[in-house]
Amino acid sequence: MTSYKELGLSNTVELFKKAVSGGYAIPAYNFNNLEQLQAIIQACVETKSPVILQVSSGARKYANANLLRNMARGAVEYAKELGHAVPVVLHLDHGDSFELCVDCIENGFSSVMIDGSHLSYDENVALTKKVCDYAHSRPDYVSVEGELGVLAGVEDDVSSEHSHYTQPGEVEDFVKKTGVDSLAISIGTSHGAMKFKPEQCTRTADGILVPPPLRFDILEEIEKRIPGFPIVLHGSSSVPVEYTKMILEFGGKLKDTVGIPEEQLRKAAKSAVCKINIDSDGRLAMTAMIRKVFAQNPGEFDPRKYLGPARDELKKLYMHKNREVLGSAGKA
Ligand code: G3H
Ligand code: 13P
Ligand code: ZN
Repeated sequence: MTSYKELGLSNTVELFKKAVSGGYAIPAYNFNNLEQLQAIIQACVETKSPVILQVSSGARKYANANLLRNMARGAVEYAKELGHAVPVVLHLDHGDSFELCVDCIENGFSSVMIDGSHLSYDENVALTKKVCDYAHSRPDYVSVEGELGVLAGVEDDVSSEHSHYTQPGEVEDFVKKTGVDSLAISIGTSHGAMKFKPEQCTRTADGILVPPPLRFDILEEIEKRIPGFPIVLHGSSSVPVEYTKMILEFGGKLKDTVGIPEEQLRKAAKSAVCKINIDSDGRLAMTAMIRKVFAQNPGEFDPRKYLGPARDELKKLYMHKNREVLGSAGKA
């Protein structure tokens, strides 16, 4: 059993308080390997941003729980070595069972998400409360994120064809009954790099898909019911057109990619939205750069020569997000 405090990590409680009152969101970047972790820490130290290192259950199986725990410890020390000890959270993304949450907490996670969004309301309340009771009774207080409403797209092993927006009428009761520290809501974001079907979108003159706008009316309604309560947005990659173009130019195949426009995320970050989840953009950035290196130098077979440039591109992307989209730069 390892407490996250031994690893030098933080839970989300104080960080979210500051983010809500300060009108910015903390980046939650998914990772499962060394280069992603290097890019995240370098970008967040350079922009002086707090950071949530986010691990899905699939990523945990892929990378190994022992390695991840020690990578998180290493990330804290690496930030110090780079000259600025930004707060680092290790968070379970889309936890699907009480047992998985407990296992993560015992292995040094400082925050977990229990995703009961696909269950009935009462079952979601019961499961989320069970996780909160356990996590909050720990001497080190592990923070818990719950979810109400369903995002379209793939949520780890849970996939959904259609989204169901969060019903504002449910949030107050959910927060009160469960004791969650933050709430993920569905207001029109979606997981993956093809967030909407082309028929749900309009197009610009040069054929680029424009998604339906986020439902800020629902967000406002939710904020009225639970003023100042920390809100989380999943599925918040912007899917930059440059990366799709690069991937296609250098031999990849991708169709109908579309993400959430940066201005809408910026607007959300100024509200009670204090955590914004980004995974797909990082995948696209790395893939685009690796394809470019291979296309330009087909003889390359030293992984550092293609993973290095991919890592640098990822760092650039995250610095941009912290500065221009989330507003978290300079907050640590
Ligand atoms: O929301 C899902 C995240 O992007 C994690 O994806 O389950 O493929 O690691 P993953
Ligand atoms: P994206 O697929 O939009 O990056 O969303 C990631 C996410 O929500 C992780 O929980
Ligand atoms: Zn998600």
